[in-house]
Amino acid sequence: MNYSHDELISREDRLSLNLVNRRKIVIDRGEGSKLWDIDGKEYIDCIGGWGVANIGHSNEKIIDAINIQTKKLITCPSNLYNKVRSELMEKLVCITPEPLTRVFLCNSGTESVEAAIKFTTLTTGKSEFIAAIKGFHGRTLGSLNLTHNKKYKDDFRELLLHNKVNFVPFNSIERIKSVITDDTAGIILEIIQGEGGVNVGSTDFFKEVREICDDNDIILIIDEVQTGFCRTGKMFAIEHHDIVPDILCLAKSIAGGLPMGAVIVNDRIDVSIGKHGTTFGGNPLVCAAAIATIDFLEKQNLAVITQEKGNYFINQLRIELKYISIVRKIKGMGLMIGIELNRPVKPYVDMMMNNGLLTIPTGLTVIRLLPPLVISYLEIDKIVKIIKLVLNNK
Ligand SMILES: Cc1ncc(COP(=O)(O)O)c(C=O)c1O
Repeated sequence: MNYSHDELISREDRLSLNLVNRRKIVIDRGEGSKLWDIDGKEYIDCIGGWGVANIGHSNEKIIDAINIQTKKLITCPSNLYNKVRSELMEKLVCITPEPLTRVFLCNSGTESVEAAIKFTTLTTGKSEFIAAIKGFHGRTLGSLNLTHNKKYKDDFRELLLHNKVNFVPFNSIERIKSVITDDTAGIILEIIQGEGGVNVGSTDFFKEVREICDDNDIILIIDEVQTGFCRTGKMFAIEHHDIVPDILCLAKSIAGGLPMGAVIVNDRIDVSIGKHGTTFGGNPLVCAAAIATIDFLEKQNLAVITQEKGNYFINQLRIELKYISIVRKIKGMGLMIGIELNRPVKPYVDMMMNNGLLTIPTGLTVIRLLPPLVISYLEIDKIVKIIKLVLNNK
């Protein structure tokens, strides 16, 4: 049966729980950094699957890897050994800094944070955490404790931990020092706060946090769910600051669009059988996709290329939007970019969409851009042109 654009929208609106603001377009297919709706209208995709589509939509290498693995084996629980799974773990250990040597595979970003919380508590025997104001770490009941924004938490207050998480301003080392107690188990931070508005942390801050953790027997958890896999111009954003956490949380783009999360830990982390687990985590199908994704990132040199493209993109935005009075700031690293306005961004995001550009409103006043890293310079120029046109339309 052929449904029209409007019929598909009303069917999905009728059937799905009302949990997200949907844009009124029905996406049918994607390739590289482009998406098409069911009527064939083309969009440049700076939503990038909310930071999932780093290697581009429908990447041939992922399609091949999935096709081959599907015919061989799709599921294999973690109590049985599997070659593809161990190959991925070896790759993850290889591309992360040296003290990170062991891996737990799961299915999403929030699951990676849930695991990090449990591993931290198991290791230290302590239960308090320090997290950053405007930080985002997921929406399930463990990770939600560490997410700052009240709008995600207020309705669940009775289900959350009380007095166990101290929120401090991002980049404020003094405030971290002031809230440490004998029961502080872990500090969790993003390197660049994504949901919080593309806020970039400083090298001094991260280095001092690492020292504080070492001096106080505190586990440092870095959440690179959004910044990982070349998004910021390095394989992992920790490399910008030359720090290594005790636990690194990964997800989003790790498996070329398939659902996967991963936690990579150092030897401090001490857990034992039965303390955590997952049914789907580490299944060979998704592992094969992740191996192909990492191969693609490495062979295409996407860390370096993203840094170059990101510098160009941010520079062009700064030049072209310089005289637009509603633009407050252009921020970001690599291809994780925020445009902060002095007013709500929603109408501008809608206008961009009508002009063939998909972007993410973040908070009230930031437009976030997370394009696939395979985006071309021509497309970047086109995006800057659309953004300029729309923001000039006050
Ligand atoms: C930094 C960070 N951590 C965790 C999450 C949660 O990931 P997921 O939506 O896969 O559960 C997100 C999602 O946006 C994120 O940006």
